[in-house]
Amino acid sequence: MAKYKRTHMCGELSISNLNEEISLTGWVQKSRDLGGLLFLDLRDRTGILQVVFNKDKDSELFEYAQKIRGEYVISVSGIVGKRDEKAINKKMKTGYIELLANNVKIISKAETPPIYIEDDLNASENLRLKYRYLDLRRPAMQNIFFVRHNVNKLIRGYFDRKSFIEVETPVLTKTTPEGARDYLVPSRVQPGKFFALPQSPQLFKQILMVSGFDKYFQIVKCFRDEDLRADRQPEFTQLDMEMSFVESDDVMEIIEGLMKEIFKSIKEVEITLPLPRLTYKEAMNRYGSDKPDVRFNLELKDLGDLLSNSEFKVFSDAIKNGGSIKAINAEGCGTKLSRKEIDSLGEFVKTYRAKGLAWINFTEEGIKSPIAKFLKEQEMKSIVERMNAKTGDIIFIVADNSRTVYDSLGQLRLELGKKYNLIDKTKIGLLWVTEFPLLDYDENEKRYVAIHHPFTSPMDEDINLLDSEPLNVRAKAYDIVLNGYELGGGSIRIHDSELQEKMFNLLGFSKEEAWRKFGFLLEAFKYGTPPHGGLAIGIDRLIMLLTDTDNIRDVIAFPKTQSASCLMTDAPSLADERQLAELKIKLD
Ligand code: AMO
Ligand code: AMP
Repeated sequence: MAKYKRTHMCGELSISNLNEEISLTGWVQKSRDLGGLLFLDLRDRTGILQVVFNKDKDSELFEYAQKIRGEYVISVSGIVGKRDEKAINKKMKTGYIELLANNVKIISKAETPPIYIEDDLNASENLRLKYRYLDLRRPAMQNIFFVRHNVNKLIRGYFDRKSFIEVETPVLTKTTPEGARDYLVPSRVQPGKFFALPQSPQLFKQILMVSGFDKYFQIVKCFRDEDLRADRQPEFTQLDMEMSFVESDDVMEIIEGLMKEIFKSIKEVEITLPLPRLTYKEAMNRYGSDKPDVRFNLELKDLGDLLSNSEFKVFSDAIKNGGSIKAINAEGCGTKLSRKEIDSLGEFVKTYRAKGLAWINFTEEGIKSPIAKFLKEQEMKSIVERMNAKTGDIIFIVADNSRTVYDSLGQLRLELGKKYNLIDKTKIGLLWVTEFPLLDYDENEKRYVAIHHPFTSPMDEDINLLDSEPLNVRAKAYDIVLNGYELGGGSIRIHDSELQEKMFNLLGFSKEEAWRKFGFLLEAFKYGTPPHGGLAIGIDRLIMLLTDTDNIRDVIAFPKTQSASCLMTDAPSLADERQLAELKIKLD
């Protein structure tokens, strides 16, 4: 018999295994010594089974079992018995049975672990990350990685069925066009030269289209040296895909089909296709965000036309200066909010650069508002009408440049949604946002920048605006949004070299600069380029949303902290003098 042979996994056993002779291996969750009886909870990745040692039956075995502590690794065999009626734990699948041990062996001892292996764990995240292997023993964590495994498996099956081929692209490469900071890797063989880790396989997948692969996908690590947030890691995983001879709808259809399968298989919910679509403009106007959480209303409404001549200078000036005035009606929240809370919402919008937050509270005693004195009766009336305001409601208004208005009210909307539990958690807020602007103007660099990347195609009907009104040109770019998160994004690419050159000109890249950065792609495009487009989904974000966590670190086995370090391995760490000398690198 193999030394560590086990006949079953702990969590798979049930009353149907009664009286069977079995062997198990695993970790000891806890031990309870009641004198004549000793109970061990044995854990493996499938669950927990109670093991019993009876002193009267075998005192030698009992004494040996008394030495077993929490997190020891043991092998144990015996007979499956039924628990006493009052010892039954109906919450557990194995709660009706126990293993009556007739043999046990300590395989490996364990020191007292610095964190408890429990699901309702209070340990600090830093401790969990330092002892990640212990943290990963927790069933809730293991469950996340089974979901992740199943999603990856499903993705591969789906794309295979749709005739896509998975091709691996390099990790040691050149800068890519996503626009975050690169991670650089020094070359030893060519001192002074550096590889960049890919921010995505963008250029390679486009080249694979030039190579005639037609339909490509890859589950791939990407690296971006950017400010980290709860949904961002320096090293993350994309489902990356690209197709030839397609338009936006073709790419979106493939991704929708995948989402349907994932939600059906992982969440057991049917998603109705096609998914809803909002243009960027609609999304901004209604939600103040290009990744709207559509699981609740509280939509933004425009008051610009009503208040452009207001005596309240804040309002009229905003319109005069080309900005806007928008408002949300927090229905029924008027009575719930104290004056102090309203003031704190004013502070909240200031963190999004708004200069103030005007409000109108429709109380039982009448209208309360710091701006009422500035508003004519007719203006107030038209606001009430536009906002559909009733007693009990409170309206919040921001006037500023449009970007600030969208940002601050969009965030206020989310804040109110969270604060007053307006978000219907049973809904799946999955949708497309389309027709993104092609360009933005960077005030610091005094030039246009690509919103998606420089290879994204303008919409055919807007190409004639490229010279005259570049900021009004829309792109063939689309994002898929889930519950207020940007899950993925993509575009149809430029495959015409004249248009590409025009784009580089607009972005202020000289021909030399464009060729230095992306010359290999431009060169490839000379030799027969099919029209193509694709998209990438952030797998970590997808898993976060599927497993109901708002912390991206929970879905990555060995993640980095906010300061981009790994507490378990202590990376990044200092390099040896010898290594630096070989790389011809001198430190300051
Ligand atoms: P984009 O830059 O929009 O597109 O990235 C696609 C998706 O990747 C995820 N993502 C991240 N997830 C975790 N941590 C990060 N730091 C991080 N950065 C991005 C997001 C995002 O929606 N090459 C293009 C795709 C294409 O055009 O085909 C690209 O990378 O979920
Ligand atoms: P004031 O008369 O300056 O005290 O402002 C009256 C109200 O208008 C206060 O509640 C301010 O928070 C609000 N307010 C100030 N600036 C803005 C703005 N840009 N948009 C909306 N409300 C504002």
